[in-house]
Amino acid sequence: MKRTFLIFVYGCQMNAYDGDRLRGAMKDMGWSESDDVMDSDVVIFVTCSIREKAEQKVMSELGRFRPLWEKNRRPFVALLGCMAQRTGLDVAKKFPWVRVIAGPRSLGLVPMSIASALAGGGPFICLDSPTELDDLSCAPARANNGHKAYITITHGCDQFCSYCIVPYVRGRFGSRAPGEILNEARRLVEAGAVELTLLGQNVNSYGKDFAASKKNYSFANLLSDVASINGLKRLRFTTSHPVDFTDDILDVMVSHRGICPGINLPVQAGSDKVLKEMNRKYTKAQYVDTVNKIRASLPELGLTTDLIVGFPGETDEEFEQSLKLIEETRFDLVHSAAYSPREGTPAAKRTDQVPPPERARRLALVNETQSRVSAEINEALVGRSFEVLLDEAAPKGEGLLQGRTITDKVVLVKANPAMAGTVREARITGSSPWCLDGELL
Ligand code: SAH
Ligand code: SF4
Ligand code: F3S
Repeated sequence: MKRTFLIFVYGCQMNAYDGDRLRGAMKDMGWSESDDVMDSDVVIFVTCSIREKAEQKVMSELGRFRPLWEKNRRPFVALLGCMAQRTGLDVAKKFPWVRVIAGPRSLGLVPMSIASALAGGGPFICLDSPTELDDLSCAPARANNGHKAYITITHGCDQFCSYCIVPYVRGRFGSRAPGEILNEARRLVEAGAVELTLLGQNVNSYGKDFAASKKNYSFANLLSDVASINGLKRLRFTTSHPVDFTDDILDVMVSHRGICPGINLPVQAGSDKVLKEMNRKYTKAQYVDTVNKIRASLPELGLTTDLIVGFPGETDEEFEQSLKLIEETRFDLVHSAAYSPREGTPAAKRTDQVPPPERARRLALVNETQSRVSAEINEALVGRSFEVLLDEAAPKGEGLLQGRTITDKVVLVKANPAMAGTVREARITGSSPWCLDGELL
């Protein structure tokens, strides 16, 4: 009997990695992947809790299974990831077609639970324990599109930024063993991956938890070891916390050509008062110093950031400082978000919430400012040539492939789909705030 699954991944790249591992484990157990709900025995959602909208979207998706379930008892749903950890018990009560619920660190229990649910058992509820920090990985990662793959190197987060749900849903910070990561990286490269991205909420804190056992192996060590794997062309990492962006990381980046000079360094706000209340542990001046240090070491740099507008108590003047920071720092891209109160976090309890329309106004201003900056940065690249790792077909445009420069700029070129996975030289012929047009040389 053919058993089929369909998988939807929301949220950050750590979820994409979990989705990749689960996909592999399910196939190993004889399941095949489908692209149609009607043709699936189980529909798997790997979910995110970072903002209320992310959860609402999945909730409404889940609701839509009712008529099918009531009629056919098929498909059933497996709810995984951060939102499953946060809301799983309620969801199980509300939606009887959700037969498997598992938190991010319980992924290893999922394939068997899905098989048992198919046989009529359940619901199986595997929430992560706050004290057991084992990561129950279900399978080694496989490249998600052949030539690019993710590897999670740290789990959880101990930073407790006052607005953020991640420490509550992903648990305490913990680094995976270097040998385990290196083996996984080698296997992925042997299987054809030419680009790896090391993932964590704070990748550059990697290894800090080894200090107690005197193992002394840092993120810089790991970067250097992974970058030295034969056959790997590009190594990326995300996300970096400004507080832990130490000089040894830059030294390794400078000495390994394969480590891409593309850095996401979330700033979150431009006002020292807001940063303090966010519990970010740096000032604007310290952040700017770090950026200057990075730029001095890596002249060809793609720098992106995350920014929240409308944090509780943020005044107009404080918000203006975020705008000013964007103008001054000239990021290539800003991942901007309107503050979303997350139940259980300190910021959500504050009584001085910024009204939602004002948050929306500030968000529009940030996006307007940043798209002007991005347009200027990209326009200045027209006429230059870059190495581009060609990827899948562009979402729009016949015969166009999209690729990335080492600085992580998207470049659209006319190319044969068979060239995906190769690095080519391209000259930039046009630009917009979001991407570049190019022609292969
Ligand atoms: N660990 C990374 C990223 C965390 S989540 C860091 O420290 O920056 C990704 C982004 O989501 C964050 O950088 C932040 O900008 C945004 N975010 C997190 N919680 C949020 C909230 N409650 N409301 C709006 N945006 C939020
Ligand atoms: Fe959330 Fe802060 Fe941890 Fe990033 S560092 S995941 S924003 S608590
Ligand atoms: Fe979302 Fe969880 Fe990632 S909350 S951003 S999926 S760590």
